[in-house]
This record gives sequence, structure tokens and C-alpha cells, in this order.
Amino acid sequence: MFLHFPTINKAQIYLITALTLLYPKLSMGQSLQDGIYTEEQASRGAEEYASRCASCHSADLRGNSNSPSLIGLSFMFIWEGRSLGELFTKMSTEMPTDQPGSLSQQSYAAILAFILQSNEFPSGSTELASNADRLEPIPISSQ
Ligand code: HEC
Repeated sequence: MFLHFPTINKAQIYLITALTLLYPKLSMGQSLQDGIYTEEQASRGAEEYASRCASCHSADLRGNSNSPSLIGLSFMFIWEGRSLGELFTKMSTEMPTDQPGSLSQQSYAAILAFILQSNEFPSGSTELASNADRLEPIPISSQ
């Protein structure tokens, strides 16, 4: 008795190969190294930051004895391994401490883009989402 193999044509082989190569990339999701905010968004964020956050966290984001730094090793020490969604929620529901949640979601996303830029994560061609659910799967990681 002969086994019957269905014929696979070249196009199908290309398709299967492409899917096999792409699958790990798709399932890994986005990372901070992929350029997940735009330069333009970060510069809007810089303006909002200057008017709404710098009074406590300082113009250079390094904070002071009352407010934590939003940049560099001390910031990554707190946030590494947590998610971008958690950081977005923290900012957008608790900051500024004297008027929590008083900015628009778009403004919080722009400020987060500015914080990522200040921490030397690369920019790209799509804006950072202004929605905690969409940011939840993205891990904060320095590599
Ligand atoms: C009136 C002072 C004040 C202003 C204005 C302010 N913050 Fe804060 N922020 C604090 C203090 C104090 C903390 C530490 C206590 C806490 O985590 O709730 C903090 C904590 C944070 C944290 C958590 C940092 C960490 O490592 O735990 C983030 C992120 C943050 N602020 C972002 C912002 C952003 C963005 C703005 C502007 C929209 C802002 N803050 C405005 C005082 C302020």
C-alpha cells in the first residue's frame, strides 16, 4: 500500500519558511529596543514635562531629595523587569502628586516617550500608545 503525500508547491514552501522565520519575532512582542515612540512625540512630551513635572523631578529628570530620578541607573533599578504599562499607570493615575491624573492620556504618553528618549532608548516611526493595556506587554529592560 502506498502512502499518499499531498503535493506541496514552491509557493507553499516559501510561505511555510517565512512563517517559521517570523513566528519567534511575532511571539516575542515589542521591546524598548524596537523604536516604539517618535522623536516628535518625545519633543511634545518634553514641553509637557517642563511645565508639569520638572518642578519636582527637576529639569534634567534627576530628581532631588523629595522626588525620585526618572533617568539612569537609579530609575532602572526601580523599574527594570516591570512593564511599560505599569509605569504609564503610575504616572497617569498618581502624577503630578498635587493634581493626579490631570493631564490627557496623550500627554502622559508623550511624557513617557520623553522619559524613554532621556534614558537613551531608540525612537522609531510609530507613536507610543496612550493606553496602559497596549503598553502592558512591553517589558522595561536595558537590553
Ligand atoms: C509636586 C511634586 C511632583 C510633581 C509635580 C510630579 N511628581 Fe512624580 N513623584 C513625586 C514624588 C514625591 C514621587 C515619589 C512618591 C511616589 O512614587 O508616589 C514621584 C514619583 C514618580 C514616579 C515613580 C518613580 C519611581 O521610580 O518610583 C514617576 C514615574 C513620576 N513621579 C512621574 C511624574 C511625571 C511624569 C510627572 C508630570 C506629569 C510628575 N511625576 C510630577 C512628586 C512629583
